[in-house]
Amino acid sequence: MSIVLALDEGTTNAKAVAIDHTGAVLATASTPLSIANTAPGWTEQDATEIWDASRDVLARVLAQVDAADVVGIAISNQRESVVAWNPGTGEPVGPVLSWQDTRTAGRCADLAGHAATVRERTGLPLDPMFSAPKMAWLLEQAGEANVVGTVDSWLVWCLTGGAQHVIEAGNASRTLLMDLELLDWHPALLDVFGIELGALPAVVASNGDFGETACAGLPAGIPILAVMADSHAALRGHGGGAPGVVKATYGTGSSVMQGTGDELRRRDGVATTLAWLEDGPVYALEGNIRYSGAALDWTSRLLGVPDAPALGELAATVDDAQGAVLVPAFGGLGAPHWDPAAVGTLTGLGAATGPAHVARAAFDAVAHQVADVAEAMLADGEALDAVRADGGATASSLLMQSQADVLGCDVIVVGEADVALRGVASLAFSRVGIALPPASPSRVHPPALDADRRAQQRAGWRTALDSTRR
Ligand code: G3P
Repeated sequence: MSIVLALDEGTTNAKAVAIDHTGAVLATASTPLSIANTAPGWTEQDATEIWDASRDVLARVLAQVDAADVVGIAISNQRESVVAWNPGTGEPVGPVLSWQDTRTAGRCADLAGHAATVRERTGLPLDPMFSAPKMAWLLEQAGEANVVGTVDSWLVWCLTGGAQHVIEAGNASRTLLMDLELLDWHPALLDVFGIELGALPAVVASNGDFGETACAGLPAGIPILAVMADSHAALRGHGGGAPGVVKATYGTGSSVMQGTGDELRRRDGVATTLAWLEDGPVYALEGNIRYSGAALDWTSRLLGVPDAPALGELAATVDDAQGAVLVPAFGGLGAPHWDPAAVGTLTGLGAATGPAHVARAAFDAVAHQVADVAEAMLADGEALDAVRADGGATASSLLMQSQADVLGCDVIVVGEADVALRGVASLAFSRVGIALPPASPSRVHPPALDADRRAQQRAGWRTALDSTRR
């Protein structure tokens, strides 16, 4: 028996599983995490809380298995969020600036002259979602004597008792500082953002040397075998990075991703990213949507219903949104539109519009945003065979059907609670010579709309998108 302790440190909770060499989940533990909106556009988390919760869930799953069977730890983590800490004391300085935080929008606008260089080298748009402007902001506040990293850097630092200041290459590819061909920090990019190399972690492969546990609360000497950014781990959990697999992960935001193997492909409006670095680089195209699950939560609050499942029940009482269109551009528009000035809108209202239609519009908004990204990824004439879906909101058949309808292709739902955990565990197991099978589908939603109705719905969405521009 071989067991990997796999941690998924997400925006809203830290979850761990003990998974064995057959893919069976033997134990699970999870702890919610707080998130604070301290000013308009400012979204913060607490680095100590993230570490405590992560260690706690790992310790809880370890306690449920025979420790002698554990071959190592695997970590999948929320991307782009930034932590600064004092390397002497190991104490965080300042808040975690969440990937959702847009306080550096002005800074990014000032750097617009560098946007083409940044895009060429990193594959990313110069947008405040990514790490570098947040790193510069935190270092300015905290003082240059401190170090920065993404959440994986912070967790590996804490797990190894400060022995390792590293960043996994897929996480590094979300910072705006890593050159996609060099697979390391590029001096020209560091100059653009005014970040000193000495403050940054070393970039390592996803199955590289992350050291071993040396912290209170966990036994010493457990090797950290693999680290992956969560969306990238989900792509791997769905079956890998070969061209053709398109996956959508429905979380707080959504990540739509297509593996392109060792080919560095570029498309307007979507990012080119390093999915992971194993024997060689595995690249992907990706569009990240800020408000999907969060848009359902927002609409639930607006309508006074308890949560997204209750919103789904309300939405299911009507056949369609009756022309109502919600565009949840609350932090501007992300991929593929990239307009930080855009504002959220609710349009197409009539006297007969009721709460159920607005609820329906919220689910449709999630589906249309995913469709916008999926379409931007395709070359002229290329068609989607299917999209593989995972994440909490896939529990909503209404959402998955709306997704199949607006995409015009099958949506294959993988009901497994956390595909990212399987993905990163598979990389960890590969280090000890074990191949984990990919996650199996639990249901398929074929499209039910005819081409005309679909085109009509997409056109209505695009008109509503125009109304968000300022
Ligand atoms: O890019 C941000 C993403 O990694 C966050 O993932 O699962 O915390 O919503 P999640």
